[in-house]
Parts: sequence; structure tokens; C-alpha cells
Amino acid sequence: MRKPIKNNVSWVGKIDWELRQFHGADYSVNHGSSQNAYLIEEEKTVLIDTVWTPHSTEFVDNLKSEIDLSKIDLIVANHGEVDHSGSLPQLMKLIPDTPIYCTANAVKSLVGQYHHPEWNFKVVKTGDRVDIGNGKQLVFVEMRMLHWPDSMATYLTGDNILFSNDAFGQHYAVEELFNDKADPCHLWEEAMKYYANILNPFSPLVKKKIEEVLALNLPIDIIATSHGVIWRENPAQIVETYYKWSQNYQEDQVTIVYDTMWEGTEKLAHQISREVSSQSPQTRVKLFNIANSDKNDVMTQVFKSKAIAVGSPTVHQGVLSSVSGWLDFLKELKFKNKKAAVFGCYGWSGEGNSVLRKLLNEAGFETVAPEIKCSWNPTPEDLDKARNVAQALLA
Ligand code: FEO
Repeated sequence: MRKPIKNNVSWVGKIDWELRQFHGADYSVNHGSSQNAYLIEEEKTVLIDTVWTPHSTEFVDNLKSEIDLSKIDLIVANHGEVDHSGSLPQLMKLIPDTPIYCTANAVKSLVGQYHHPEWNFKVVKTGDRVDIGNGKQLVFVEMRMLHWPDSMATYLTGDNILFSNDAFGQHYAVEELFNDKADPCHLWEEAMKYYANILNPFSPLVKKKIEEVLALNLPIDIIATSHGVIWRENPAQIVETYYKWSQNYQEDQVTIVYDTMWEGTEKLAHQISREVSSQSPQTRVKLFNIANSDKNDVMTQVFKSKAIAVGSPTVHQGVLSSVSGWLDFLKELKFKNKKAAVFGCYGWSGEGNSVLRKLLNEAGFETVAPEIKCSWNPTPEDLDKARNVAQALLA
């Protein structure tokens, strides 16, 4: 079912209310998502992106009920990832000669995934234009590493719509499509989660790309993303927010992440939390047992934090796998300019803290010297060390 966007531009995507995981099980989806695809019907008819493979039949059937597929003059594949290209095989069976405009890297990705080197690929790069009639053009902008090497955005002149693909998106289902119709709390939470968990490693490129696009002085009335809302009310707000997020973003927040075997390390975590609050009542404190928490939502809290404390008891001369696994993910996200402290209990050998310190340093965190290393269960003296830990995190 198509939904109107502006003039001759319609949404023809999939609102995916059922989705609960993305990138396999690597990204939790709390409020559904969408794969947004668009139809432009000027003198030429253009399809921008498709939807994920499981929805191919629904997508192609919907499209067939809206237009004669043979009228599609060209397809734009802004990004080869399967959530946007997954319906191409089914669609191309019906319109096999239709040109597909995409980057050189997207050709590699699409051929690698679907094994159709005979598809009519038209390779484009930044600044290339295609005339679609009625005085309108498509202008392509490569978005290398935002978030894949093949990503690009497409700008529609005349209607001033930027089809930004993954950039500025969220995994968030909004039946009404537009940002001014969405619950703003959910919307900004999901936009930040998406940035923190998917785009943060590429923050320097985000900053550069935004500067490059702004320098083009293109009027942008609408940012039509490939996931979540279409930004039509003040679309500049998400660009400005991304620009802010791309520069080592932090709020006055401290996040404590731990796991525990017999509650000793848990007691230390709670004591650090109390100390931070007591020393700096205005600072927001969040505390998570990572074994029972959503790793992506915890990452969003880390993104907002100026400092974190990470705790685990020593086990097998290392730390609990819930903590080490999460720290591996933390390293991938390349956070910068954040402090970290370590804490944990041990019974025998006690390597946990030094393992945590090493992993946090490798993840780019500046570890502070004060720590709590506690033999067996915390004594009042052990708990008292939380004072120095909190002080160092807040300094
Ligand atoms: Fe939404 Fe990178 O795919």
C-alpha cells in the first residue's frame, strides 16, 4: 500500500512491527522497525530501494497493485545490505533489464549476494545526475562507510528530498511515517540507539560527510530515511544532532556495568553508584547487570556517559564471559574521550581487575587509577574505596 510523501513521491516500503532483532541477533529492536522504499513518478518512474527478503512477495505484489512494473524506468539501490536489496531478485525476475543505479561497491555486494552479474548496473559516484523529467533530477552522493563501503544517498531536485538510506534512521515502526507524528521520546531514544550501536565507529566520517553535504547548499525539505521516520518537520534537527553526536558526545552521566557470581561484585557496583550520586547529585547514574540487560540499550547509555565503571569477579584467571563479551562489543564501537574504572571480587588469584583494565584500554577508554579489588566479600574498608573511584570518575 503506497503512502503519499510529497507531490509525485510515495512510500512503498514495509512497516515491520514484528521485527525484534536485526543484524542476526546483534541489535535488539524494541518497537518494531521499517524498511522504507520509495516510488517517484515523474516523466520517468523511479524505485528507490526495496525491502528485506522475507517481505519480497508482499513488496512486489503491492508494487504491482500500484503500477505496471514495466513502467519502472530505473531502480536506485542506495545500499546493498539485504534489508534494502532483499526484494531485488524477485523484482528483477519480472523486469530483468531495468537499470540499477548504485555505487561500484554496491555492484560487488549485490552480485556477491544474489549472483546476477547480468543485471543492468549503472555505476554512479558523487555528483552524478540523472534527469527524470518535469525539470527534476536525481543527484547521487556517495556515503562511503556510512555505514558500509557501498552506501550512498540520493537527492531529488525540485522536491528537495534527500533519500538518505540508513543515515538518520532508527529501528522504530511508525505507521504514520513522519517525525511529527511519532512519539518524540521513543523516536530520539531509537535514533540515539541506532547511532551509538551502528554509526559511532564511523563518527569522524559522519562529521566530514555532513560538512561536505552542507557545503553543497542543497535545500532539504525532507529527509527520507530507509528505517523509521521520514523527517519532514525541521529535517535539519537530525542533521544537527548527528553532527553533535559525531564529536565524542557525552552528557553528565556515569554508567556502571557489571556481572557477579555471589553478589560481592554487585555490592561494589551499588556502592560506586551511591558514591557517584552522593558526590555529584546532578550526575545521572545508570547501573546494569550485563548478564540480565540488553547489550545494545546499555551501549546507548555508555554513548551518553562521560565515564563508566566495569566490574567482574575473577574467574579462570579472567572475567565472566558476559562482561568480556560485552567489552569486545564495546571495543568495536570506538568510543572516545571517556573514563573508566574497574572493580571486582576474587577468591584466589585475582586477575580480574587487570584483565578489565586491559580490555577497557584496548576499547579506547582512559582507565583511572583508583579501583576496588576485593578478596572474597566486601568489608567496610573495601566499600569505602568506592569514594576514590567515584571521585576519579567525576574529576
Ligand atoms: Fe539498513 Fe545497512 O542496512
